Amino acid sequence: MRRKLIAGNWKMNKDLQESEKLVSEIIAGLKKIEYDKSDVLICPSFVSLSDTYKQISGTPLNLGAQNMYFENEGAFTGEISANMIKSAGCKYVILGHSERRNIFHESDELINKKVIKAIDSKLTAILCVGEILEERESGKQNEVVKSQIEKGLAGVSSDKLINLVIAYEPVWAIGTGKNATPEEANEMHKFIREIISDLYNKNASDEMRILYGGSLNDKNCEELLSQSDIDGGLIGGASLKSESFLKIIETSNNI
Ligand code: PGA
Repeated sequence: MRRKLIAGNWKMNKDLQESEKLVSEIIAGLKKIEYDKSDVLICPSFVSLSDTYKQISGTPLNLGAQNMYFENEGAFTGEISANMIKSAGCKYVILGHSERRNIFHESDELINKKVIKAIDSKLTAILCVGEILEERESGKQNEVVKSQIEKGLAGVSSDKLINLVIAYEPVWAIGTGKNATPEEANEMHKFIREIISDLYNKNASDEMRILYGGSLNDKNCEELLSQSDIDGGLIGGASLKSESFLKIIETSNNI
């Protein structure tokens, strides 16, 4: 049985004070709802990680970073290592987000090195995949997602998959208010499971948590999260307000 994972990706939003406020609201809100069937994760900016970690200690909230570099240390100005984010309290790290791929030109090869490093460092890597609009319109979405997964997981052995989550985020749905229909999303999630089954085995595929991301919010979460192969969400905009994030968590628990 796969536990749901509800993950907030704050992107480049919220300074220290704003982060503290949002985390307090989430902690207070969680006391009023049931969410024992779901894991909850928040991924603030690097700057807020360590303060957030202190704030969430003693609560079931988990902390994640939005990126990291694969080298241990050294002359990599502006980069952050796996050990650094772990020392700030992170258990998870988002890798290969479409904004990293498209704005910062991260390649599948670079993302693969990060995935390997994250997993070897005992972080749980959330590997993001998803097609852009033109690829969907020309029917290439399966090909694109398959290639991103095969390249992103090159050299990752099946015993390491326990530290991996996949997030399917169609790029055309991110921040646009246009979400994939529940059927479209579920179809892709099923296809991702087939890819994992072919690359590894049926058991690995059955156990893999696959999140949907792309304009997931408190209004559409019920129909998306109730799909058979959707195991939670990677949520941007709707994770920046405690009411909507809490509503999604509560809904995930009732499905
Ligand atoms: P969104 O972002 O929910 O604002 O569409 C999701 C994401 O990019 O992870």
